[in-house]
Amino acid sequence: MIRIKYFIALIALCICCGITHSQTSADSIEKRIDEILKSMTLEEKIGQTALRGLSSRFRGEIPQGLAKAVREGRIGALLNIMDEDVVKELQRIATEESPSKIPLLYGRDVIHGFKTVVPIPLGLAATWEPELVEQTARSAAIEATTYGVRWTFAPMVDVSRDARWGRIAESLGEDPYLASQLAAAMVRGFQGDDLSDPTSLAACVKHYAGYGAAEGGRDYNTANIPEHILRDIILPPFHAAVDAGVATVMTSFNELNGIPATGNHFLLKEVLKGEWGFDGFIVSDWESVKEMIPHGYAADHKHAAERAATAGMDMEMVSTAYEEHLAELIEEGKVQQEELDDFVRRILRIKMRLGLFDQPGFDSSRRSIIQNPEFLAEAQTAAAKSMVLLKNEKNILPLNKSKTIAVIGPLADAPHEQLGTWVYDSEKETSQTPAPALRKFLGDSKVIFEPTLDYSRSKDKSRFAQAIAAAEKSDLVLFIGGEEAILSGEAHSRADIRLPGAQEELIHALSETGKPLVLVIMAGRPISLYNIIDKIDAIIMAWHPGTMAGPALVDVLYGKVSPGGRLPVTWPKTVGQIPVFYNHTNTGRPFNADRYIPEDKIEVGTWQSALHNTSYYLDLGHLPQFPFGYGLSYSSFKYSNLKLKKSKINMGDTLQVSVQLTNTGKVEAAEVVQLYVQDIVGEVTRPVRELKGYKKVTLQPGQSSRIKFELNAEDLAYHDANGKRISEPGDYNVWIAPNAEEGLQASFTVK
Ligand code: GLC
Repeated sequence: MIRIKYFIALIALCICCGITHSQTSADSIEKRIDEILKSMTLEEKIGQTALRGLSSRFRGEIPQGLAKAVREGRIGALLNIMDEDVVKELQRIATEESPSKIPLLYGRDVIHGFKTVVPIPLGLAATWEPELVEQTARSAAIEATTYGVRWTFAPMVDVSRDARWGRIAESLGEDPYLASQLAAAMVRGFQGDDLSDPTSLAACVKHYAGYGAAEGGRDYNTANIPEHILRDIILPPFHAAVDAGVATVMTSFNELNGIPATGNHFLLKEVLKGEWGFDGFIVSDWESVKEMIPHGYAADHKHAAERAATAGMDMEMVSTAYEEHLAELIEEGKVQQEELDDFVRRILRIKMRLGLFDQPGFDSSRRSIIQNPEFLAEAQTAAAKSMVLLKNEKNILPLNKSKTIAVIGPLADAPHEQLGTWVYDSEKETSQTPAPALRKFLGDSKVIFEPTLDYSRSKDKSRFAQAIAAAEKSDLVLFIGGEEAILSGEAHSRADIRLPGAQEELIHALSETGKPLVLVIMAGRPISLYNIIDKIDAIIMAWHPGTMAGPALVDVLYGKVSPGGRLPVTWPKTVGQIPVFYNHTNTGRPFNADRYIPEDKIEVGTWQSALHNTSYYLDLGHLPQFPFGYGLSYSSFKYSNLKLKKSKINMGDTLQVSVQLTNTGKVEAAEVVQLYVQDIVGEVTRPVRELKGYKKVTLQPGQSSRIKFELNAEDLAYHDANGKRISEPGDYNVWIAPNAEEGLQASFTVK
């Protein structure tokens, strides 16, 4: 008995120590900050708010002005400095020669891997596996910190419903629930369990906020978002990142409802620092402070500095409005000294949590860990799991090794392109492409390789005949096409989202051979397949899969991995449908599929109101090509016996809902079982479906399992037109489904 008491006492002591330790360290950090703040001059305080940048390709000698500015304490952080000697020398100057000896924070865009590149974030989202996503972020942090990087400008969590927008590639898709889960996972992965660990990166959730709602899908464009949509769709992934302890937040380039995010008091002070209690620091995007002038929200640099500072923006990336004008603004009483002190306190807090005051250096000898077999295997797994099987006529996939294949297309052997956007630190020399991986797996005699187009935008048809000849000598055509890396990412929006160049024509020509045709797409966005989908037997969306694209594609094409990816974005038929997304409202005239007459079937002279006046397109109907959450596998799944424990629950109760899932196919496969609800009547119109949970389940052939979910009233809360969060009694529909268009439905009432 005594032993148990002793054991309990010991546990209690450890828990207390744990709490007091973290509290002590928090207290000691605040005390340390107070001490430093007291000793800092106004110039030095302003210096901490300066993030100075070099172009992402900078290498070599330190620009003289930089060393001088660091020595004088006029710089708090640097980005894009990757030369080991430069990083170490500037840090030495900061910690030994500057007035307050405050260490520099080095930042870099480590978005989807560092040297080992994993799928673009939109591809990672297609795995629906937070644990895997967390792991890839952890590995990226371990690699990047061997170069002295301790801050990454990720995760990017801008909800995007527009495939024209180039940065949809960097996003976690269109759904706030999935994006929230993955945002938190990336923060955990980058920051690790202890931010002071030398392998930890301070994460930076971005771009706060509304950047993905750019009108026309044109990057940097205006975003007007009603508050209830802002709070229910756009902000949740940021809130999830803050709840996960994200160290920093980056403001976005766009204006939101008439006020640029970088000077938006509502976003920065009221919501982020106020409602959410965020205690890290906010950094602007690249010169977004100064850009409030062209926005027409600031008259000049000084006014821009005032707009940003009074809105609570802590650190200015690259532009120098704070450096040039904060002292004067404080002198004039337009910005309070306390504002600046809070900026500096937040910046020092993150530097201390990172352990930079105690360990400002880094250990480059750890670089031996870069692209180690474990990281490469992880990248291969992530790439395979990100791939989405969109079509598989006559189960043509998985392929049989005995078949001779004609490998055609501009991305079959494009090591740089397959890495995708935002890859600053990996080399194409280590990027493993499909063509050699297929030759290695099948033997040279089974692969006839004829890229035909040298790059994705090529319109050169001079080698079409070779492609046709290759196809005719083969049992099957494997077309690996899509977009070069440059066609997505920042400032790379496209008004036409079809396959670029002559790829569609080449696919048409290849289909004329009558050979089975498999299309693998590598791209940073959903691609309009409207003109070609009927010519193709099977389609795999591989996104930009990263370093291990080749081996991963072999795993999926030949069945070592059954495709488990599911779409994190709705896939439009053509650009004309955009914006198109699953969690839309119903309208007063919802489409009636039973009455749809395709445009080319409408009789000439039809009376004007003879067709049904509901919300759809005459030529395309109303449904997208593929819905959110969609994806096939090499097996098949049956959903049966949807059960609700109770069909009436009180506010505050938990609703238990479950379904029987059976693998009715012949191979082991993964299924993403999705839980959707619909609030039938609300204080504002509510989406026809909202994702409220999901489980990725792997079942053996014939195996059956009951998949259970719990929903509570909190999960059903939403914001009314005034931005007030409410959860209310009422009638709801619930689905357990394979995607946002199908599934077993039931109803329940909250009393
Ligand atoms: C860019 C991007 C941002 C990136 C920053 C630093 O313009 O908008 O996502 O982190 O500048 O490179």
